[in-house]
Amino acid sequence: MRMFVFLLTLMLTSCAADQPPAPEVPAGPALLADLGKQLFFDKRLSGAGQMSCETCHLPEKGWTDGLALSTRADGTVNTRHTPTLYNVSVYQQYYWDGRAATLEAQILAAWRGQMGGNPEMAAAALDAIPLYKASFERLAGGPPSQERIVNALAAFVRTLESKDSPWDRYEANDRTAVSADAIAGFDIYSTKGQCTLCHLPPNQTDAMFHNVGIGFDKPMPDQGRGGFLTTQLTQQNGGTPEQQAEAKAMAGAFKTPTLRSITETAPYFHDGRSATLEEAVDLVLAGGIRNPNLDAKLKPATLTPEERGQLLAFLRALTPAAQPFERPTLP
Ligand code: HEC
Ligand code: HEC
Repeated sequence: MRMFVFLLTLMLTSCAADQPPAPEVPAGPALLADLGKQLFFDKRLSGAGQMSCETCHLPEKGWTDGLALSTRADGTVNTRHTPTLYNVSVYQQYYWDGRAATLEAQILAAWRGQMGGNPEMAAAALDAIPLYKASFERLAGGPPSQERIVNALAAFVRTLESKDSPWDRYEANDRTAVSADAIAGFDIYSTKGQCTLCHLPPNQTDAMFHNVGIGFDKPMPDQGRGGFLTTQLTQQNGGTPEQQAEAKAMAGAFKTPTLRSITETAPYFHDGRSATLEEAVDLVLAGGIRNPNLDAKLKPATLTPEERGQLLAFLRALTPAAQPFERPTLP
């Protein structure tokens, strides 16, 4: 017995000493959001394998694409500009017109509509990749499926936050974080400019819908929220008089975009018409574009060149210092 124990000890110690360390099993993502990050960048999700969410939502462009209008997988051109994905969890409704009630519904629609994705086929393709299959089992509660893919994507999108901007640091009592111009600019933003009537701090959006006239200088303007509500009512046999009045009031209204990280997300507005932040701000300062349904909260504001510069300095302070973004390794 003693001999056996001795031999066993010898064997064990020699094992520990001589054997190379066990080969690293690829760790795989640790969280559902990390799995979602892989899926966000994976072209296997699209119909023809040519497109991922990243195609239109690039981290270096504040999760937009720098284009006025992007082209879908089927070759048709979007009628609305790609919005940022920063801080989308503050919204109760998604898309420029709020037609999706949850982030999950929105993502499923984007997957199918923008990317030409076929959820059943994509799920089967991922199921055939052992590392993906293992991650889904471990983190999403079962093998790849439409619902689990969407949930993982949503978990990732919810992690995308624009935070710790110079203005956030100033608000957290770091008085040296921004210039005197930016401080004066915030005063203009909230008083003379009346921007805060719709761009509500701290996310610089009220998550509501307003008509500021974008598109009303062209024939057949996009009716935005009003168009969506009208279509909805048609499907419900017309709706109540109150619902009809709301649809009418929302004609030409679009969701107030966040102004966080605004310097990264040019061009601006739902049709991508303004190439620069200066142009976008001048359009709003002029009171938007005249139309019968222009929001009463938007009034023209006359600023001196100095005040305009200060307002812009404040808006630029809403962008955090650029952080390099690490793309995931795909299984
Ligand atoms: C071909 C370009 C394109 C691709 C690919 C694409 N999107 Fe988008 N995305 C858009 C456009 C354009 C809109 C705005 C459409 C609208 O409001 O009518 C949008 C809107 C969104 C929104 C709504 C944001 C808000 O403020 O309401 C989210 C979230 C989003 N996309 C996530 C994704 C995810 C996740 C994927 C991958 C599954 C994806 N997108 C793929 C172009 C794209
Ligand atoms: C009545 C509400 C309202 C007020 C007041 C308002 N905005 Fe906006 N703002 C919006 C809406 C809605 C949009 C998107 C309109 C569209 O694209 O159709 C927008 C878009 C913008 C954009 C473009 C953002 C992007 O990502 O495309 C900027 C910049 C902007 N506003 C700045 C300001 C400034 C600065 C002020 C004050 C001088 C201001 N806004 C006042 C509602 C408002």
